[in-house]
Amino acid sequence: MSRWKEERRRDFYYKEAKKLGYRARSAFKLIEIQQRFGIIKRGDRIIDLGASPGGWSQVALEYSNGKVIGIDILPVKKLNGLIFIKGDATSEDTKEKVKEELGDEKVDVVLSDLSPNLSGNRYLDQARSFWLCMKALEYVDDFLREGGRFVCKGFEGSDLDEFLKEVRKRFKIVRKFSPRASKKRSREVYIIAIGKRSS
Ligand SMILES: C[S@@+](CC[C@H](N)C(=O)[O-])C[C@H]1O[C@@H](n2cnc3c(N)ncnc32)[C@H](O)[C@@H]1O
Repeated sequence: MSRWKEERRRDFYYKEAKKLGYRARSAFKLIEIQQRFGIIKRGDRIIDLGASPGGWSQVALEYSNGKVIGIDILPVKKLNGLIFIKGDATSEDTKEKVKEELGDEKVDVVLSDLSPNLSGNRYLDQARSFWLCMKALEYVDDFLREGGRFVCKGFEGSDLDEFLKEVRKRFKIVRKFSPRASKKRSREVYIIAIGKRSS
């Protein structure tokens, strides 16, 4: 796709986000995932990793109308219904806070749009993203109920196969999905996992 067409497309999602009141263009990626895979059901409890500025949390709240816990190092402006934990999703401290929030409850969905600060070095970015993906899996292990669903952003590359192996151990159905709302030149891809196996 030419740079001009790519910019026009990005501009389209940016304008749509503004028009519909979403805080980020990325909201459309989750909407596409939802339309294709029906990841979120009414009443679902959801953890949203890498929630700032809040686009995915908005979509998660709209579809579930349930308990949504967002986590990010960066702030999220007040969003009705969102329980926001400001902190590093990879730290034990943050997981403790999630535990306090949930008590003995489990969640139905774990979402991760966690992204490292991209350096432009493909291998370094892939490695950092892989590490964040593995950290997101810890939330699956600790907080997701049996039968639950998981969406995780990753980057195409050799590490992704390693991550997919780990996801397949835990879920019955695993798919890769590239939303139209992703930048065309980006190597980002979303892993969609359905039906958490019993441990
Ligand atoms: C692509 S943005 C998420 C956009 C969000 N899904 C939305 O729709 O508004 C990625 C986010 O991951 C967050 N992030 C990266 N590493 C993190 C970490 N270790 N703990 C918490 N958040 C992290 C960044 O601060 C950033 O806000």
